[in-house]
Amino acid sequence: MATVLVTGGAGYIGSHACKLLKAAGHKPVVFDNFRTGWREAVKFGPYIEGDLLNPADLDAAFSEAQPDAVMHFAALSNVGESTQRPDLYWRNNVVGSMNLLDAMARASVNQLVFSSTCAIYGEAQTEVMTEDHPKNPINPYGASKLAMEQMIEDYCAASDLRAVTFRYFNVAGADPEGQIGEHHEPETHLVPLVLDAVAGDRAEITIFGDDYATLDGTCIRDYLHVMDLADAHVRGIDWLLEGGAPLTLHPGTGSGFSVREVIDAAAAVTNRPVPQKIGPRRAGDPPKLVSGSKEAEEKLGWKLEHSTMEQMLRDTWRWRATGLYKT
Ligand code: UFG
Repeated sequence: MATVLVTGGAGYIGSHACKLLKAAGHKPVVFDNFRTGWREAVKFGPYIEGDLLNPADLDAAFSEAQPDAVMHFAALSNVGESTQRPDLYWRNNVVGSMNLLDAMARASVNQLVFSSTCAIYGEAQTEVMTEDHPKNPINPYGASKLAMEQMIEDYCAASDLRAVTFRYFNVAGADPEGQIGEHHEPETHLVPLVLDAVAGDRAEITIFGDDYATLDGTCIRDYLHVMDLADAHVRGIDWLLEGGAPLTLHPGTGSGFSVREVIDAAAAVTNRPVPQKIGPRRAGDPPKLVSGSKEAEEKLGWKLEHSTMEQMLRDTWRWRATGLYKT
């Protein structure tokens, strides 16, 4: 059993990782400033309230939790927002991560699982993307994550730090047992917004551009169920605990869905119409991002168990019916 300090553990992906860490016999300790995370999502171990921008908070957390490893989720992650407030992204993501790495060094904790993103690549230059795709981020969010990756790589080279980095594609779905799920304020992600429109909680879903060079003109993304992503993270921790070398992996499905296909699937799963309209393109959106890598499966023995569009929509639909967090 390992104790894992989970930064951003009260957030969407972090809370699901905590659930699976606990199920695997580890002890997750959440470190979160609760600015975008939810106290109600901390259900699988203790939490420590603190901010990555405050090194004293980090030192206190390492001293209290005595972790063997760190999972680092805490970051701002909205592409659109990052184009308007790059300062927030560089400070919270890059400076915050540097503070974390320095605190890890002071506490002699040298195992890290890190959340990166395929937004570091920018526009896809190949039909599907592998980990060696050229890196040309087209928005400040992707640029900040690329800087974080480079920082981690440099720290690994110069010290005994070992990191497993996951470059996420898109994430959707919720805990199938309904204990936790996705809740962002404000929500910007496609799947919860589509279901809000189905439920009548918003007037309609706006499709951000239908003039992309894709089959139906809308953007294509590779959607992964959050439980499958959380499972990859637990395997990343186990890899490091067993002495594994640093890795950078794509937890993707290899299949893309267009915005229209997601909307149509939501209509089928809920058996209700999806009020929709076409709007302009959103700044910073590449037309297509799909993973073409099998390395996560090969290195970590990871398998997709939940990642059909139908299950992602069904679990999200069930989650929003619980009314949890929306109090
Ligand atoms: N979209 C709409 N209407 C909406 C919301 C989204 O048409 O109201 C479209 C977007 O333009 C995009 C797709 O739906 O084409 C998915 O958008 P999301 O906002 O759900 O997700 P992103 O692809 O922008 O970003 C997500 C994560 C990032 C991550 C990225 C990698 O938020 O952290 O996936 O693809 F980097």
